[in-house]
Amino acid sequence: MLEVIILAAGEGKRMNSARPKVLQPVGGRPMLAHLVEAARSLEPGAIRIVIGAGADQVRDAIGGDDIDWVLQAERRGTGHAVAQALPQVDEAARVLVLPGDMPLIRADTLKRLLENPADLAVLSFIAEDPAGYGRIVRRDGRVASIREEKDANEEERRIEEVNSGVLCAAASDLSIWLERVGDDNAQGEYYLTDCIGIAADADRVVDAVVAEWPDELLGANDRAQLAELERVYQRRARGALLAAGATLLDPDTVQVRGPVECGRDVVIDVNVVLEGRNRFGDGVIIGPGCVIRDCDLAAGTRVEPLSVLEGVRSTGACSVGPFARLRPGTELADGVKVGNFVETKKAKLGAGAKASHLSYIGDAEVGEQANIGAGTITCNYDGVNKHRTLIGEGAFIGSNSSLVAPVSVGKDATIGAGSVISGEAPAGQLTLARARQRSIPGWKRPSEKDEKS
Ligand code: UD1
Ligand code: CA
Repeated sequence: MLEVIILAAGEGKRMNSARPKVLQPVGGRPMLAHLVEAARSLEPGAIRIVIGAGADQVRDAIGGDDIDWVLQAERRGTGHAVAQALPQVDEAARVLVLPGDMPLIRADTLKRLLENPADLAVLSFIAEDPAGYGRIVRRDGRVASIREEKDANEEERRIEEVNSGVLCAAASDLSIWLERVGDDNAQGEYYLTDCIGIAADADRVVDAVVAEWPDELLGANDRAQLAELERVYQRRARGALLAAGATLLDPDTVQVRGPVECGRDVVIDVNVVLEGRNRFGDGVIIGPGCVIRDCDLAAGTRVEPLSVLEGVRSTGACSVGPFARLRPGTELADGVKVGNFVETKKAKLGAGAKASHLSYIGDAEVGEQANIGAGTITCNYDGVNKHRTLIGEGAFIGSNSSLVAPVSVGKDATIGAGSVISGEAPAGQLTLARARQRSIPGWKRPSEKDEKS
């Protein structure tokens, strides 16, 4: 049986942040959330996360009923951190230890490590710049120990094979080795990595699995490394979109901050940001400069440039923007057109309904084929409560009308331009609510006063 221990107690001083390090985002989600996802895919008997700095914040951000939280009150090193979790671990279990600041690791790579039969297997990689990492010290080709950078001599520092921080061993062995780890080193910490030398000296089988894709083992200790992780994550996420059949007109300018389910022949133009969880049906087009968050857009939907969509669901081919702002709870049926400078919120637009320019539609239901003129506003908020506006099928709302909710406009009703509608507008009739136009015959413009008189 497998148990996973994730080390997430460090505060990450080098980030210079009020946020615990493992909550720094990569691809729009906390680093730790990525690791939990990878851990879950291994279907372990338990996932134990060691927390310390900002413990409550970390627990709240990650949640999950399947996680056992272990408090490391004092940060005394990675070995000490694992030792806090071990008493709860099943004695017969194999333990996989993951550092909390390595969010790009893929489940396949972890599986490769778990397949290694050694008593103690670590995941290593060949670093272009090994600075900051523990070095894998080999003797006659076999792993003899791991030397932390701060304790390494010049010769050891030249070693390019470094420790990723991921290792795997039997729980019972780990607890014996950890008892023998001391803190007599440059950082005065209990290093988990000392277990490697202890096990090797005891003639146990120690092995290092060299990762094929070192990019996924990058850790983030500071903002520069975090930015590098983001770059790698983005490259991977864009690759997945391309593989799914999307066209990215300039891949480097598209940012993907969450899972995207993508149909075929989706086109994503430059400078688009995709956040949260999005789903795009076949042939969806996202124009330049759009921000799309938590949207489910049906096949054929077009989002024109510089539109911001959040929590939008379209159920047919619609047209949105340019310059539209669609907020959560917006539902668009087939053939809907939402044009420039239109804002919607909790608004359901029926098939073929149009709001082509300059409107606010909130807490509203708009019937099929209704036409909302430029400048129409639903006055949904009385300062305390929100109220609903119902607009019937085929209704025509003249430009610059205010619909003071709660209010309803009947099927095929017409509202005269400039009306303030605060009562029911009956089906099929013209309703006007504005001052009547009048002209004053013989009226003269004032003339300049004669100063002498
Ligand atoms: C560690 C490894 C190093 C490896 C590197 C890879 C040790 C001693 N060194 O160094 O060999 O090359 O990772 O990135 O293990 N943590 C705790 N409690 C603590 C200390 C740390 O939970 O008392 C957590 C941190 O939050 C972090 C992880 O353990 O998520 C690793 O700690 P960090 O201080 O980043 O270790 P490195 O110096 O990077
Ligand atoms: Ca680290």
